[in-house]
Amino acid sequence: MIEKAKRAQNSNADTEVVDERELKEVDPLDHNHPLLKEFREKAPGSFKHTQSLVSMIDNVAASIDLDSEYLKLAAMYHDIGKMWAPECFSENQPPDVNIYDKLDPQISYYVLTRHVSDSVAILVAHSFPVEVIKMVSQHHGTTVLRAIYEQAKKMHPKGGLNDKHFRYKTQKPSSLESLILLLCDHVEATSRATFAAQDQEMDATSFITNIFNVLMMDGQFDNVEIRLGYLNKIQEALISDVAGNFHKRVKYEEDDIKLEKEK
Ligand SMILES: [Fe+2]
Ligand SMILES: [Fe+2]
Repeated sequence: MIEKAKRAQNSNADTEVVDERELKEVDPLDHNHPLLKEFREKAPGSFKHTQSLVSMIDNVAASIDLDSEYLKLAAMYHDIGKMWAPECFSENQPPDVNIYDKLDPQISYYVLTRHVSDSVAILVAHSFPVEVIKMVSQHHGTTVLRAIYEQAKKMHPKGGLNDKHFRYKTQKPSSLESLILLLCDHVEATSRATFAAQDQEMDATSFITNIFNVLMMDGQFDNVEIRLGYLNKIQEALISDVAGNFHKRVKYEEDDIKLEKEK
């Protein structure tokens, strides 16, 4: 696909001859792609997150008939910069480890947010299509690192802190695809964290509606023109995705208990 994009940018006749084997070797969605292999080995939790995200995006894109080729590519690689410091991200750490407890929140902010520019640097170095790089660069928009900001407020109870110091300094989504990436990334990460901490079925509808409302009120939708009908369909697709995943988890746990009793 990258070769395809490169060829599109390059009009030389000699680029028309393509080695099929070479094309296969560089297919960036193939899990045997060297970059993805390295990502999976160094940051297994982040890799798992991207796999769930790609499947979520498949469902969302299908619900509005969106061509999701580049979007899925961006989803697969959006956090690849985390492999440069995998232990700094919770999904690659045991649940009881939080390296940020003892760090100055402003330092934590820099450690956590730099994965966006690291991801972009890797994709630029590997000649990914510019559309994909742009989506990756906008995948956190200007959102706040909420946990770090709350920690900073506790450390400075007299106030004087502003959430602007704890926001990503990147661009808000500027296309429908970028917005879908930001929404799905947020839903995937938040639902995993919430479900892991709960032992009863959650209300997927209010969970997703709340995420949409918070991000919309925060201005993350501001630079995208989108039909209300599309927004509803995206929301419904995410509700059924999250409800399905969580239901499966509850069902497995019930089955485990039943099997345990039958032993
Ligand atoms: Fe990210
Ligand atoms: Fe992510």
